[in-house]
Amino acid sequence: MAKKLFITATGTDVGKTYLTALLVKKLRQAGRNAGYYKAALSGAKRRGTRLIPGDAEYVKRQAGLEHAAEELVSYIYETAVSPHLAAELEENPVELSKVKEDFQRICGIFDYVTAEGSGGILCPVRRNLLMMEDIIKALDCPILIVAPAELGTINHTILTIEYARSREMEVKGVILNWFHKGNAMEEDNLRFIEEYTGVPVIACAEENARDLEIEPERLAALYR
Ligand SMILES: Nc1ncnc2c1ncn2[C@@H]1O[C@H](COP(=O)(O)OP(=O)(O)OP(=O)(O)O)[C@@H](O)[C@H]1O
Ligand SMILES: [Mg+2]
Repeated sequence: MAKKLFITATGTDVGKTYLTALLVKKLRQAGRNAGYYKAALSGAKRRGTRLIPGDAEYVKRQAGLEHAAEELVSYIYETAVSPHLAAELEENPVELSKVKEDFQRICGIFDYVTAEGSGGILCPVRRNLLMMEDIIKALDCPILIVAPAELGTINHTILTIEYARSREMEVKGVILNWFHKGNAMEEDNLRFIEEYTGVPVIACAEENARDLEIEPERLAALYR
């Protein structure tokens, strides 16, 4: 049975895909059969008749996955809005049963599956029916939270951690993105989040980081 980890974030565009690619690459370079999955992607670019799932394409390229990007994503929407609205506009609603089936298939291919969410933990997936948290629970994954290192992140990160805990999700750690080593405020953000929540900041990524400072064994141990 594959080990799983779900990458969520304090918001959209904070670096889930960028960092997921580094995580999957690190595991693969350490000889682990690591792969990727995303339930719903909106804002896909059209190339001829093909809709390109950009996140999966990026992770595939960076981490050297052999599977077609389309095989790693259940729902691909062209409209660049939240998945619930894109699905309504394109009349193709997310079915949890398909998400579970596809995820099981991916878990049959890889030993370590990194699932990327859309937006944050309360990103709507299907109006009045499905939020990102429901997908996380249905796939039975522990979570890793990506947060920008900037001003305001203490509030956003603690809100996400406390919400996840209140819904009985297992929070494995935080990654701070766009981190500036030696910046007093950002270093304090890191310390504050750890001390207040007890959740470890497992890595910090600087701008254009090509690697994450974390041992592959410690990273692999986050997967469940
Ligand atoms: N550490 C970094 N250095 C340089 N560029 C970065 C870094 N982190 C993220 N980016 C860039 O910022 C943009 C947003 O990042 P990314 O696509 O990973 O966000 P996301 O959280 O996956 O967004 P979504 O919610 O749409 O899936 C991308 O253009 C990405 O290449
Ligand atoms: Mg992404």
